[in-house]
Amino acid sequence: MRYWVVNRRSRSIALIGMMGAGKSSVGRCLNRRTGLALHDTDEIVATSFGMSIAEIFAKHGEDKFRAAETEALRRIRTEEQTIIIAGGGIVLRQENLQILRKQAVIVWLDADEEALFARVSRKQDRPLLQTKNPRKTFAQILGARRPLYANIADVRVDTSVLTDEEVAVAILAKLRRINPKPVSPIPATA
Ligand code: S3P
Repeated sequence: MRYWVVNRRSRSIALIGMMGAGKSSVGRCLNRRTGLALHDTDEIVATSFGMSIAEIFAKHGEDKFRAAETEALRRIRTEEQTIIIAGGGIVLRQENLQILRKQAVIVWLDADEEALFARVSRKQDRPLLQTKNPRKTFAQILGARRPLYANIADVRVDTSVLTDEEVAVAILAKLRRINPKPVSPIPATA
């Protein structure tokens, strides 16, 4: 695992991890706690196509989606420190890794396989899981991706038994440990 260079100020926080890791909801918690703006690559891509991620996969295919995902990442302005929520497949392209490395401290939200799959199963909208055996597909994707997440992450948080708020608190604590002033948390009111 790579470690965040201490004293590099104003780096954004990128959340990476498998579908079901809770990146979007944890991102919102971090946004409330820090006041930093949120950028979600899936949302940017969906807006640019004017359709859902599932529709983009169905109509244009995965390659077009991946190209748009890289473009979305490139377009996120990081002069100001922000929170970047990256789609689960962001680690598949070398170019994405370079962009993320330059801009952000990279936080991997991990969890055990059962917990991840249970969360993903709450919605049936993940295009990559529209297979005969989604459970098996999920295990295969996770097996292939875990080394990629591990390789690029500065920080890993196991979210298996934590609430989204607890994960956000854990992230901020870890970031503070590796850089005493990574962000200025706004005290949570709730
Ligand atoms: C994908 C994850 C999805 C979305 C697309 C592909 C992946 O985002 O980008 O369905 O390859 O893991 P989430 O990780 O937010 O579910």
